[in-house]
Amino acid sequence: MKILLTRKIHDFAIKELKKRYDVEIYTGKIPMPKKLLISKIKDKDGLVCYPYDIIDADVINAGTKLKAISTYSVGYDHIDVKTASKRGIVVGYTPEVLTRATADLTMALMLSLFRRITEGDKLIRDNKWRTVFGPYEFLGTDLYQKTLGIFGMGRIGKAVAQRAEGFEMNIIYHNRTRLSKKEEKRLGVRYVSLDNLFSTSDVVSIHSPYTPQTHEIVNLRLFKKMKKTAFLINTSRGKIINEKDLVIALERKMIAGAGLDVFQKEPIDANNPIVKQDNVIVMPHSGSATVETRRKMAEIAVKNLVSGLAGRKMVYQVKT
Ligand code: DGY
Repeated sequence: MKILLTRKIHDFAIKELKKRYDVEIYTGKIPMPKKLLISKIKDKDGLVCYPYDIIDADVINAGTKLKAISTYSVGYDHIDVKTASKRGIVVGYTPEVLTRATADLTMALMLSLFRRITEGDKLIRDNKWRTVFGPYEFLGTDLYQKTLGIFGMGRIGKAVAQRAEGFEMNIIYHNRTRLSKKEEKRLGVRYVSLDNLFSTSDVVSIHSPYTPQTHEIVNLRLFKKMKKTAFLINTSRGKIINEKDLVIALERKMIAGAGLDVFQKEPIDANNPIVKQDNVIVMPHSGSATVETRRKMAEIAVKNLVSGLAGRKMVYQVKT
């Protein structure tokens, strides 16, 4: 069988794949151009892709021999799963292994915003540190007893709640479906409406998947409800936030700041008005970017593809 990788993966994973298949790896400029992807997919049985590859109906239907798609990500909003399923193509993804790493990055952004870590670092590097240890000098905010609002209570949302509990935060959440009473008690979380989440939280953290329903669901309407002292964190998908509205909210100080790991267009340009805001911390889509996690993702991506091509159920197969 022939497979295509839209980018090089770990050496051990390539070795595993080469034991079984005729492997073609795209090594050009990222992302692989659509025209090229369409021409290369034509004779392939399997595909390994990344969250920035748009695997739409054109690509899927060009792959007339395609049987399995394995994405190196938990998100699969870049894949037209409906078209794949109609064609009998299975789709695999990599949840669970990246839950902790993404939750950790969320806490890192939260701590950085509350305690002004990047600002302090810049202050010293710019040689602007003048006065030492005063009662009003460079004050941040306690996490203790502050309200964290989690939007999207899946695996990552729950892992963030567990971590925030260690910081003795008050945790509320909003999700498509409410958790069981038992689960709410176990996590120490309280269910609220979306509006309530935004109006009462000291920090809102987004952990919902990107779907047509969540497209720019976080917009001016919700920013207007937020406390002026509140922060927004997004380690999920950029398109969940209306970025023009976010810039308005930040410029007009409707909110205190934001910690963003994901953007509508990635890589985001340094001249983008979001990046120009002082009250924003930005990261280059790194939720799962740890040595350990990215290796585990490669293991799962390979296992998914091998199972899918063998006609077995994948370790993590997208439900259709
Ligand atoms: C994913 O796997 O979907 C994440 O966004 C990668 O960090």
